[in-house]
Amino acid sequence: MSSHGAPRPMTARPSRGLSGVADVPGDKSISHRSLILGAMAVGETRVTGLLEGQDVLDTAAAMRAFGAEVTRDDDGMWRVYGVGVGGFAEPEQVIDCGNSGTGVRLIMGAMATTPIAATFTGDASLNSRPMGRVTGPLEGFGTQAYGRAGGRLPLTLVGAADPVPVDHTLSVPSAQVKSAVLLAGLNAPGQTVVRETEATRDHTERMLTQFGAEVSVEREGAHSVITLTGQPELTPQEIVVPRDPSSAAFPVCAALITDGSDVLVPGIGLNPTRAGLYETLREMGADLTYENEREEAGEPVADLRARFSPDMKGIEVPPERAASMIDEYPILSVVASFAGGETMMRGVKELRVKESDRIDAMAKGLRAAGVTVEEGEDWWSVQGRGPGGVPGGARAEARLDHRIAMSFLILGLGAQKGMSVDDAGPIATSFPVFEPLMTGLGAQFVRANA
Ligand code: S3P
Repeated sequence: MSSHGAPRPMTARPSRGLSGVADVPGDKSISHRSLILGAMAVGETRVTGLLEGQDVLDTAAAMRAFGAEVTRDDDGMWRVYGVGVGGFAEPEQVIDCGNSGTGVRLIMGAMATTPIAATFTGDASLNSRPMGRVTGPLEGFGTQAYGRAGGRLPLTLVGAADPVPVDHTLSVPSAQVKSAVLLAGLNAPGQTVVRETEATRDHTERMLTQFGAEVSVEREGAHSVITLTGQPELTPQEIVVPRDPSSAAFPVCAALITDGSDVLVPGIGLNPTRAGLYETLREMGADLTYENEREEAGEPVADLRARFSPDMKGIEVPPERAASMIDEYPILSVVASFAGGETMMRGVKELRVKESDRIDAMAKGLRAAGVTVEEGEDWWSVQGRGPGGVPGGARAEARLDHRIAMSFLILGLGAQKGMSVDDAGPIATSFPVFEPLMTGLGAQFVRANA
């Protein structure tokens, strides 16, 4: 869906003593992959715990457009009747991926080696994001891409009729690009290879193996060589989607910065390629513990307990950790504002091509809230004002970016004069129950007029 309707301004008022249990929804990355891999398997894949955010609903609609049957039972279980590798039909309509970079990039990969054409578009945010990073390697398979200058959406892909496998070295640390190449490799004969020099989230590799594809991963430090043998028959799966660590970050960080808080966030996936924020928070001195550590659906999982942490200190976040917390820098910058001293974040230029330029969006809003932020192309720093030291009282722009909207609302809970965002609408893309979940813990949110 390209439009989410009229802007929905929202204000967070200073709140104390957040408490209770926060059941955050399913992992967005795994939800997209469940639908796409389910559509490429032969037979019925069943998915419980699917994130029913707009991004994932748009991917479900896309899978239907390519010929898979995707249904939802009344109890919330999703069923995907897959058409097999190479079985996608040519869609009759434009594929609208709304706000979702993951959706569009993975789906482009999944159709790129089937001889059909499809046109992709999205909302204003998605249509301004770079797609050449995906269409470039897909052209190596023999796929043709016709798009706007600069590789922006809308664009049309014509899938390769006689695909050849590729050996691709990632030029940016991106799990979306890695996944697009691997999904394209499914319908190419022989072996498709992806090389990465920084470890990015590995859900695609794990799930491909689960679906019965032959995938080998050779790791040496942060370097990996991933080799996929093409043209497998994927077998349908029963998938239980773990809860999303990137969504869990919001109630966790809210508890850390608000006086008297104690919040439990159960069942959070802590795959090491995703858990960098939690490591960073613990290094800053956050009162954050992992309880009941266990394994679910092949992923490490724990219950996170976060309590008000008045003694947090700014740190230099190791740049090699960036990929494992790339979506969490906005909310980290909020926590850093309430810590003592400086937090320095380097090696983060990918933040500039997310749903918004996240360094610019956060820097402007934080400055309006009374926090000193410095930035360069590839780094930014936040001068912490200590617990209770952030004035707030401003209105930040969400820029069609869910994580920017949520970050400023969390900031408002700990700030002296609260904080507003011009549009809370984008939150529905990844965390549709954010507002009731947070207010259930005691957060005070007020809907305002535009
Ligand atoms: C994702 C990968 C990341 C991340 C996005 C989800 C995925 O993007 O920011 O929210 O599911 O593969 P990049 O691969 O572009 O870094």
